[in-house]
Amino acid sequence: MSKFMEWVDARFPATKMWEDHLSKYYAPKNFNFLYFFGSLALLVLVNQILTGIWLTMSFEPSAEGAFASVEYIMRDVEYGWMLRYLHSTGASAFFVVVYLHMFRGILYGSYQKPRELVWIFGMMIYLALMAEAFMGYLLPWGQMSYWGAQVIISLFGAIPVIGDDLTQWIRGDYLISGITLNRFFALHVIALPIVILGLVVLHILALHEVGSNNPLGVDIKKNKDENGVPLDGIPFHPYYTVKDIVGVVVFLFVFCAVVFFFPEMGGYFLEKPNFEPANAFKTPDHIAPVWYFTPYYAILRAVPDKLLGVIAMGAAIAVLFVLPWLDRSPVKSMKYKGWMSKVALVLFCISFIILGVLGVLAPTPERTLVSRICTAIYFGYFILMPFYTKLEKTKVVPQRVDG
Ligand code: HEM
Repeated sequence: MSKFMEWVDARFPATKMWEDHLSKYYAPKNFNFLYFFGSLALLVLVNQILTGIWLTMSFEPSAEGAFASVEYIMRDVEYGWMLRYLHSTGASAFFVVVYLHMFRGILYGSYQKPRELVWIFGMMIYLALMAEAFMGYLLPWGQMSYWGAQVIISLFGAIPVIGDDLTQWIRGDYLISGITLNRFFALHVIALPIVILGLVVLHILALHEVGSNNPLGVDIKKNKDENGVPLDGIPFHPYYTVKDIVGVVVFLFVFCAVVFFFPEMGGYFLEKPNFEPANAFKTPDHIAPVWYFTPYYAILRAVPDKLLGVIAMGAAIAVLFVLPWLDRSPVKSMKYKGWMSKVALVLFCISFIILGVLGVLAPTPERTLVSRICTAIYFGYFILMPFYTKLEKTKVVPQRVDG
């Protein structure tokens, strides 16, 4: 074996890569459960790609055949129902895992110097993931696929001058048709997965260049032994590969429970109108995007003007990109930040969740008022961040992980 590896290593840096990224990648020894979600996101990504490949083998990307081919997968293809539920549940699981992964980054200031690019690549993944999920949702060609896409694509029509031409260019037709379905299929199964995979590689390379942060925000590179190994670091493999298996087992229990017992999740993972074929002449009573888009959808609806609503929705996502430059705190972790940051984060999370709930529901004057307040809190969190992170008194960060 060692002779074989010598032969390979003389031609390809296999051992070097193994050491750099696993057996000699020293990660802080104080990771907690919130650090499971990066590897879980990788697991879900692999699930989506594998189940997606097998679904593609039986799916027909045409307006005439798409809905029926999904029914065929569900009823006639061997284990087709399982492939589909693994994929549809995987889409929601992806966002659950990624939202918790992002929350961890915000809680521990993992976006701060020197990890700005880790965060930016992460945000690019998040954007690509949203596009991937949106395009995938059109493919089963159900009522919600059709009308959901109709609502979102028509938003581009709000852009002055080029709006109408742009929506037509995106659809490839005067209305959503088989042509739209075909191009979304191409982007969903080929283009975006390549982009996402490439971004994940960049994300991890950027992280391994600077090293992982940790729940305390202590810089473990400041204290090294005579061999240059951080005193508070442990090799990623075997310590965290084994620890991550615990996260994988717990995750799979919950994931399989959903796949096998509640695949529709009460209409949140697979919406009820999507069990009816797309019909351009019949609008569903209530159109709502899937749960992971609803906070932004609520922001869109909170603004009375269509164009301003679209701008607000775009800004709500764009502002996350500049987060590393809005936080001016001298410390990373929330543990050592002052009370203002803590209150701001709690308010932000509550308003994000309320917006998510309101985005699912039909609007009423009271709900619109609440969504306006929550939108103001959402943006206030970011706009005021440079001030409260600078003003507040922070605690002293210890030199070492255990004190
Ligand atoms: C397909 C989606 C993603 C995958 C597969 C992924 C994967 C990973 C992995 C494996 C790690 C190292 C383990 C860990 O720290 O948990 C990591 C770290 C990190 N990720 Fe992601 N990630 C994804 C999306 C995102 C997104 C959307 C963001 C934020 C916008 C993000 C921000 C970060 C940050 C800041 C770190 C460093 C955390 C630290 O050191 O404390 N990631 N990611």
